[in-house]
Amino acid sequence: MNNFLSICLRLLLFDFHDLFSTTNSDSLSAPHFPPIKRNTIPEYQSVPPGAVITEPAKKIIFNAPFDSMHTYQVKVINLSDRTIAYNIRTLNMKRFSIYPPCGILKKTQNMFFNITFAPFNYTTENTKNDRITVKWINTPNNEDDEYFREWFHGDGMVNQHHIYIQYNI
Ligand SMILES: *[C@@H]1O[C@H](CO)[C@@H](O)[C@H](O)[C@H]1NC(C)=O
Ligand SMILES: *[C@@H]1O[C@H](CO)[C@@H](O)[C@H](O)[C@H]1NC(C)=O
Ligand SMILES: *[C@@H]1O[C@H](CO)[C@@H](O)[C@H](O)[C@H]1NC(C)=O
Repeated sequence: MNNFLSICLRLLLFDFHDLFSTTNSDSLSAPHFPPIKRNTIPEYQSVPPGAVITEPAKKIIFNAPFDSMHTYQVKVINLSDRTIAYNIRTLNMKRFSIYPPCGILKKTQNMFFNITFAPFNYTTENTKNDRITVKWINTPNNEDDEYFREWFHGDGMVNQHHIYIQYNI
């Protein structure tokens, strides 16, 4: 398994609790990256990360029937003039899976990620407020090409963008 995959899997398996808790879990930190202390903002994260555009920009419309898998591609475009780390989350992990869920984007690079919808029963399941969230933060160096979730654990400036899911019955 390559580095990128193992890091992203680590994110998938262990980062979910971060959605519900504001505390850090240092035990899950990568052993080879010094934890970023809360209340100390490194210089590179004291400036807001640059702009990101997604295509689609604001919503994904998911057409019925919902009884088979669907995959949608989302493009992420043009991130500032420096390298950023991004992660993509959804609260409804049962219905959506996202690949890749995290990574590094060099300045002015574009990338695609896939959202796959699992089949579900529209009449019995809650579909309100479904959305995915892309978060990004500056990395220490423009040459960085390995993702560290710890970058998101300090008080550095994070930017985020929501894409809402609409169900067309
Ligand atoms: C992204 O931004 C850079 C400058 O920040 C610009 O030179 C480049 O053309 C932009 N790329 C796209 C695809 O818009
Ligand atoms: C996204 O899905 C398409 C079609 O299923 C596939 O060709 C493509 O490689 C996937 N992209 C990623 C980043 O997995
Ligand atoms: C969805 O749930 C409703 C209510 O329980 C049920 O009547 C229906 O048969 C279910 N549909 C499917 C495709 O399972």
